[in-house]
Amino acid sequence: MMHLWKKSTLFSLGLILLAPFAVSYGDASTTGTPRLMEGPMVGAVSSTEISVWVRASGEFPLALEYDQKADFKSSKRTEKVVPSIEKDDRTAVLRMSGLEADTLYHYRILINDKPAPYIGAFCARTAPAGPARFTVSFGSCPRYQQDPVQNIWKGLEKVAPDLFFWLGDNIYGDTFDPDILAECYRYQRAVPNSRHFLATTPQLAIWDDHDFSLNNHNRTNPIKEASLGVFKRYWANPSYGLPETPGVFFKYHYGGVDFFFLDVRYHRDPNTEPDSPEKTHLGKEQLAWLKEELLASRTPFKVLVSGGGFSNEKGPKGDSWASFLYERNNLFDFIRDREISGVLCFSGDTHVGEFNAIPWSEKGGYDFYDLDSSPLAQKASDNWKQRTPEIRLRMPYQANNAGLVEFDMTAEPPTVRLNLMTETGEPVWDPVVLTSDDLKNGTATAEANIKLD
Ligand SMILES: [Fe+2]
Repeated sequence: MMHLWKKSTLFSLGLILLAPFAVSYGDASTTGTPRLMEGPMVGAVSSTEISVWVRASGEFPLALEYDQKADFKSSKRTEKVVPSIEKDDRTAVLRMSGLEADTLYHYRILINDKPAPYIGAFCARTAPAGPARFTVSFGSCPRYQQDPVQNIWKGLEKVAPDLFFWLGDNIYGDTFDPDILAECYRYQRAVPNSRHFLATTPQLAIWDDHDFSLNNHNRTNPIKEASLGVFKRYWANPSYGLPETPGVFFKYHYGGVDFFFLDVRYHRDPNTEPDSPEKTHLGKEQLAWLKEELLASRTPFKVLVSGGGFSNEKGPKGDSWASFLYERNNLFDFIRDREISGVLCFSGDTHVGEFNAIPWSEKGGYDFYDLDSSPLAQKASDNWKQRTPEIRLRMPYQANNAGLVEFDMTAEPPTVRLNLMTETGEPVWDPVVLTSDDLKNGTATAEANIKLD
C-alpha cells in the first residue's frame, strides 16, 4: 500500500513539475507569447560547429546568438530558421559555425529577433581539434511513464561528461502511431531534471525497439519510415544512415576516437527466425558500411555503439546480438582478419548495468569489452540471473545508472577507463583500465580483469 502511495505521489509530483510545458501538447495554435516549448538541446558538435535542437510554440523565425563572453557584446547570430508545424512539428536545428576548437560558447535562442522569454543563456563547448582527454557518458531506457522525475540527470550534471549518448528505448512509445512517438519525445524532452544537462552537453542518439515501434520489433515494422522521420525531427545527430540506406546509423569522431553508432532495428530480421549466415541484424548495407569504416579508421580506439549487448548468453536468447551469432562472429572475425585494433563496445537495453567480455583472443584476435548501461530511469530488472555471458567482468548493478568512460588520447599508449555511475554520480565498480595495446590480435586481457566480489 505504502509502495503504491509512493508511486502515485511521485507521478503526481512529476505532472505538477511539468505543468507549464504540458499545456502545449497537441496544441497546434500559435497564440500566446512566442516561446520555446522544449529544448534547447545541444546535438552534434565538431571542432568548428555546435548544433542546437529546439521546438518553438509556432512558426516563428528562430536563431541562435552566441559569444565567447557572457555579456553577448560581440555576439554573432546564426541564420534564421522558421520551423513548419506540419513538416517539422515546430522543431529546428540551429548551427553555430566557424567556431574555435575546444572553446566554451555562451548562447541564447532568439525568437522574432528577441531573446526567447522565460529561459536564459546556456554554454556549450566545441570538440577538441585533436587527441584529447575526455569523458563520455551513455545510457538507455528512461521510462517517463514510470519515472517522470529522473534523478539521473542531476547525477550526470554533477559528473559533467563531455558527451552523452542515448542508446535506445529513449522513449517508450510501443505504438504504430508516429504521433504518439512524437508526443513521447516531447514528454521526455520536458523532464525538468534533464533540461539544463541537455542544454549544455552534446547529445547523440540511436534507437532501440520501444522508440522504433513495438517491443523486440524489426524490419517488418509497418511505420518504420514514419518512425525514422520522427527520430530525425527530435534529435540533432550529424547524419542518419546513407543516401541509399535508411536508418539511424552514423559515424562520429571526437577527441581522437571514432564512434560507430548502429541501427539494430530498421533492417533486422525477426529474432525468432533460425540463426543462419543469411539472418541479419544490421542489414547487408549497414554491415558493409561498418566494415569499410572500421577498416578506414585510424584512431587507437574504435567504439561500436549498439542498442543491444554483444554477449552470447547462455539462457533465454534475448533481444540482442545473441540471436544473430553468425553476423556477430562474422564481424568479430573480420576485425581479427583485417587486423583492426582497438574495438570495444557500448550497449544498453537490459534494464541492469552489466560489464561483459567476449574472449576473441581464444580465436587469435583480442578480447572485446561490452559495457552495457540500462536503465537511466525506471525499475531495474533481475532477468540477468537467467543469462550467463561468455565472461562476466563485474556483478550486474541493479539500479538506475549511466556508462562513464574516460579516454586519455594524449597518453602513450592511449588509455580508456570503463565504469558505470550511480544515479548520484558515484562510480559503481572498480574501473577496467585498458590501453590501446590491450586491444590487438594475440592479446588476452579479459580473464585478468574479472572482479566479481
Ligand atoms: Fe528498455
